[in-house]
Amino acid sequence: MALHWWQRAVFYQIYPRSFADSNGDGIGDLDGVTAHLDYLESLGIDAIWLNPINPSPLDDWGYDVSDYCGIHPDLGDLAAFDRLVADAHRRGIRVIVDLVPNHTSNQHPWFVESRASRSNPKRDWYIWVPGSPDRPPNNWQSTFSGSAWKYDPTTASWYLHMFLEQQPDLNYRNPRVVEAMHDVIRFWLERGADGFRIDVIAGLIKDAELRDNPARAVTDPDIPWHSKGTQDPLHSHDRPEVHDVIREFRRVSDSYEQRILVGETWPREHERLADFLRPDELQLAFNFRFLLARYDASRFRAAIEQTERSFGPGAWPTWTLSNHDFPRHISRYSRDGDGEARARVAAMMLFALRGTPFIYYGEEIGMRDAAIPADRKRDPVGRDGCRSPMQWTDAPNGGFSTSANTWLPCGDFKAVNVARQLNDPHSMLALYGRLIQLRKSTPALVEGSYRAFEGAPEDCLVFRRDTPQQHIVVALNFTAEPRAIAIPAGKILLSTLPDRSNVAKSSLMLEPNEGVIVMLDAKITG
Ligand code: NOJ
Repeated sequence: MALHWWQRAVFYQIYPRSFADSNGDGIGDLDGVTAHLDYLESLGIDAIWLNPINPSPLDDWGYDVSDYCGIHPDLGDLAAFDRLVADAHRRGIRVIVDLVPNHTSNQHPWFVESRASRSNPKRDWYIWVPGSPDRPPNNWQSTFSGSAWKYDPTTASWYLHMFLEQQPDLNYRNPRVVEAMHDVIRFWLERGADGFRIDVIAGLIKDAELRDNPARAVTDPDIPWHSKGTQDPLHSHDRPEVHDVIREFRRVSDSYEQRILVGETWPREHERLADFLRPDELQLAFNFRFLLARYDASRFRAAIEQTERSFGPGAWPTWTLSNHDFPRHISRYSRDGDGEARARVAAMMLFALRGTPFIYYGEEIGMRDAAIPADRKRDPVGRDGCRSPMQWTDAPNGGFSTSANTWLPCGDFKAVNVARQLNDPHSMLALYGRLIQLRKSTPALVEGSYRAFEGAPEDCLVFRRDTPQQHIVVALNFTAEPRAIAIPAGKILLSTLPDRSNVAKSSLMLEPNEGVIVMLDAKITG
């Protein structure tokens, strides 16, 4: 089946400050990533996504860009980026970078100009409303906290910031802003980047009249972001016009070969995720309902089936368990159960679903959130725990850096590190390696159709992946008790438990928190 490279690929997300420090300053950098491409290649990674690498005052750790066409000096320079891309490409590994188009840093020269006077030529590059300091222009809430408006006495006006006040929102109703962002896209594609993960993609354009957002009428406990606020961001987020902006980004991206756009998509209603994946929009879109689901078969089933139902034949799913904004899934799953065993089941789900899997650095070794003492906190909204340094060995700082001071404290690298797991067939790393290899050597796991398996217990997630030649059942026991599942005869290709024998009897008995991938002897009819 003619799938695109990004449909077959396994992606690996790297938080560059925390992956590997090549120059001993306590901060990970691009040369550090290059130095570990061997590791990624042997794991079977096809593409990496780098969190922001641009110059930034780091109020939001790079999501506040002050120069879209440079590299933050902590991370290296453009030559280091070129080296990384060249070495990755030589190995057949693609590199996508983070594009942060919704807002800049307040130190970006565009904003410095824009705020200087009401008549500045860059004034309309941002969203300004003249007014008095006691009354913000409307009721919009920042994603982080409080009003999304900041009063600037220099020109007696308010500016919009949907995140920190140091992150003013750009005005995508101004064609010059759109053109400037197209130039940024071209800059990185010319340099060899294979595409972008696009930050806050659904929020790029705001209501032309800046109308108040309504209160949220219904909150759905299955949609985690509903609990975040009582406001429905009707006028500030996921406006219909945003799709025109995306189409233009895609047009620019498609003027280069084989490039992709991956959206950080928070649709207002989850059913609308598919809208971002229309043929002339994004290729991939993160699925946060899935990422944030509790360890519970019915939650995952609902997220997966909604995706399968609402995605048309052209839209391709993306699956992710962790990223740099939320506690790592192994830490979340450990709150009320055996996090390690659960993370193994979740990994099997990740690689066996129909769609493109993204791994967050360290999850392949079962890295947990690090404990961050109060005096070492760096992130204004408390996300440091999941951004701690990669744990390579049991040497000081887990082999991440030779510096006495790493930018964030390290987690428990004595217990969990790459070196220790490399030769341990029972390790999380070995399981990730096997799952990736199995996926690559089993067409049904990549190209096969997805279908729920009828008749399995509700608290297990059991599904089929079929091509005309291969018939697979993936059976995942999300409970802490054994579960029997009646499946046709077949052979177990892989279990999340290391010592299971490989023949499936007609009734498969799953151990607590066990997942298996079974190749059936014959097609299930019906
Ligand atoms: C989403 C990014 O993932 C997050 O880290 C950032 O704080 C916000 N967007 C604002 O850019």
